[in-house]
Parts: sequence; C-alpha cells; structure tokens
Amino acid sequence: MKGLLHVLTVWALIGWPAYTQGGPENRGFTHKFIQSSNRGTNDMPLPVWHEQFSIQFNETTRIFVTKRTAGTWYYDALSAKEAIYRENGNGDRYCGSVHPFRQTPCLHVVTDGKRYLVFPELGECCMCCTAEMGCGVLSPTWLQGASFEGTTTIQGVTANKWRRDGLQPNYWYATADEAQVPLELDQMPNDFQTFWPKTFTKGPPGEQVFQLPNGCSPRCPLTSVCTFASTEAQEERQLRNVDGSAVA
Ligand SMILES: *[C@@H]1O[C@H](CO)[C@@H](O)[C@H](O)[C@H]1NC(C)=O
Repeated sequence: MKGLLHVLTVWALIGWPAYTQGGPENRGFTHKFIQSSNRGTNDMPLPVWHEQFSIQFNETTRIFVTKRTAGTWYYDALSAKEAIYRENGNGDRYCGSVHPFRQTPCLHVVTDGKRYLVFPELGECCMCCTAEMGCGVLSPTWLQGASFEGTTTIQGVTANKWRRDGLQPNYWYATADEAQVPLELDQMPNDFQTFWPKTFTKGPPGEQVFQLPNGCSPRCPLTSVCTFASTEAQEERQLRNVDGSAVA
C-alpha cells in the first residue's frame, strides 16, 4: 500500500495534466475569449481557441512506459462541459491510476463543475475532482499570451506553432489559415496528441456525449491521483489566499 502510494506520488509529480497546472488550465473563465482576429502585433499570427468542437486524436503518453491510444475530444466552453474518450485509458494519468493494470476504455467527463472518470466496459464511474479543485474544463483562454514560434509542416499542410508555458512548455499547432484546425498538442514532456483534422467539427457536441452513466461513485479511490489533485489544488489556493491575490 505504501509502495503504491509512493508510486502514485511520483506519477503525480512527473507531470501534472493540463487542468492542474499553468499550461492548458481551467482558470480564468472571467477573461474574454480570444478574439478571432488572425493577426497580432508585429504581424504575428494569434492562436484561436475554438469554444466548441469535437475532434479525434492519436495520443502518446510517457509515464513509466510509452503508451499509445486514440480517442475523441468533445469540448464546449460555453456550457463548461468537456468529454475526452480514450480507447485505452491506461496511459492517462487519471484513468491509469484508478485501473493501473487494465487496458480498457476510459472517459473524462466534466459536467456541472465536476470531473468524472468513466470506464464504460467495466460499468464503473467515479467523481475525481471538482472545478474548484482545478479540474474543470480546459480554460478557453489557455492560449492567451502564447508566443508564435513559426511555421512547420504537419500531415502535409502548413501549420502555425505556438508555445504556452505552464509548469512545462506546451506547444500548439494548427493549420496556418483562417480555420485554424487543430493539428497537434504537445504537453511536454509526456503527453503528445496528434489530431485528425478531417474529423474536426466546430459547434456544440451532442449533449449525449456528456451524459454520465447511472450510479457514479461520489469519490474515486483514495489511491488514485484524484486524491493528489485535490490536495495540490487546495494548497495552491491557500498560498494564493495568503499572498492576498485574487482567487480565480
Ligand atoms: C493515428 O494512428 C493510426 C494508427 O497508428 C494511423 O494509421 C493514423 O495515421 C494516425 N493518425 C494521425 C492523424 O496521426
């Protein structure tokens, strides 16, 4: 038990996922959405973060070992809902900490200010952590302040590259045109997603993708990283309270 906790702590420290760090993050909902103007100062292209979309992706994660999976990301900042389906959740820090030894599909579903982990083939679902704890939807403003890093070619098309630092650098690639179709998200050093541009759909995903199964457990297992997510976010909040700055 102690060994497992240690392993999970290391796991948690190796790389915090987007929503609990300064990178793609869930804070700052009060900020204005990024305007869809394509040109910034000095003629640098500004990234557009789409408020509502669905897209399929391939993902490579490296926690202890390299794992690959595919999935679909459903995102709706306007209703603060998000669902990320992975064919195999084992390489995902959160899903993989609930079932470290199972290769099975797993979904993150963020709805009503809570992030749930759903294992459809196991008939399991649990509440992992709350938006207050830092587990809400990815902030639609997370790309604000990103620096433009030039163009490159991805899947045969010209892509713009931006860098937005959290605790670690995050690189965002989108087609270098008005549409700004997502191409890649690289959350250094251990989570890399390649999007399937043909599957990109703007607009609200169907409501059914955010539906939770019946009987979700109100807490994920204490041995999961969900436990640490809560602790870390609470500590962070206390620190911010102490130094008197506003709590986002
Ligand atoms: C996703 O992975 C599959 C299987 O490895 C591959 O055939 C496909 O080209 C990949 N798609 C993208 C967009 O990387």
